[in-house]
Amino acid sequence: MKSSLKSVYICPVCCSSFDLKNEVTDGIEVTTGEYVCENGHSFSIADGIPDFTWPKDLAITDEKTRQTYDKLADEYDKYADIPFMNFFTNPADIREKVANQLNINENSVVLEIGAGDGRGATHVAKRLGKNGHYFLQELSPSFLKKSFERLKEYSGIVEYSIANASYLSFPDNYFDAAFHFGGFSTFSEPDRCLKEMARVVKPGGKVIIGDESMAPWLRNTEMGRIMANSNPNYNFEIPFASIPVTARDVKIEWIMLGGFFLLEFTVGEGEPVGNYHIPIPSEKGGTYWSRYYGKLEGVSDEVKKLAHIAREKSGKSMHDWLEEAIRESAKKYTAE
Ligand SMILES: C[S@@+](CC[C@H](N)C(=O)[O-])C[C@H]1O[C@@H](n2cnc3c(N)ncnc32)[C@H](O)[C@@H]1O
Repeated sequence: MKSSLKSVYICPVCCSSFDLKNEVTDGIEVTTGEYVCENGHSFSIADGIPDFTWPKDLAITDEKTRQTYDKLADEYDKYADIPFMNFFTNPADIREKVANQLNINENSVVLEIGAGDGRGATHVAKRLGKNGHYFLQELSPSFLKKSFERLKEYSGIVEYSIANASYLSFPDNYFDAAFHFGGFSTFSEPDRCLKEMARVVKPGGKVIIGDESMAPWLRNTEMGRIMANSNPNYNFEIPFASIPVTARDVKIEWIMLGGFFLLEFTVGEGEPVGNYHIPIPSEKGGTYWSRYYGKLEGVSDEVKKLAHIAREKSGKSMHDWLEEAIRESAKKYTAE
């Protein structure tokens, strides 16, 4: 971990700032130490890599995933391209597509979570200049270590850490873009992960996630059944309802013959706010706003009928007639 970046991280549990204790540094890199936050959550740095894993006892599925990838690290070359080959797709084309959609430039600060052994990372790293930063997080320490050699030529801009992608150790609005490819369907808390990604990306920045999820209309085809039979992750349901309210221009695309999805959005500020104040030219009249917030206690059927007759005779919309009638009547009680 570069000394110059040691203050970037925050507690992945409570988002408070860290003290770095027992720091050992060679002047450029922090090799060992311990981050401790003001609420007492602590995370060690060993061999220059901080381990932000949370919860310390991972959910069963995450723990199983970590063990699986730790075991696979040395032989992953045998497996990595199979999902792409299943759909006659060139992995490099998909990785370039994702990198293009991140909309980054040479000075961007980018996060990849569940980055695996770094085999997709070169497609992003090569776009960054010496002032860019590329943070790679991964759950499996053995997998993460595999990316050191692969990304050696980018060591000046790459930062590594071990982490659960649903608990990110970065401040709000820190990144220009964040992405993940390939493991989302097995995350134990995909909903939380989406929110965390949106939290750490600046307004205007992109979040992209891609993984297995057979397009709903293909699940009952021969392809859908054959693929899900061997790999149940193809049955994964994309958690649309958990997309954060800050997401704008949300795009979903089924790639690789429909076997994988790419979810992309731009981070905005707060929930979207429309213009609800446009007068509606109809008998009812009013605006979306007045119809939602302008409700009073209900009146009797008889008074309602009277109001409709009077409105019709007045030639006004119901909104305008009611506004006038209530304003006039209220004056009697509110006039000084
Ligand atoms: C199929 S691999 C894909 C790796 C890489 N993203 C790529 O495109 O080659 C899935 C990766 O997600 C990681 N992963 C799974 N669950 C995770 C979690 N909860 N947090 C972070 N990484 C996770 C795995 O350890 C594994 O490296």
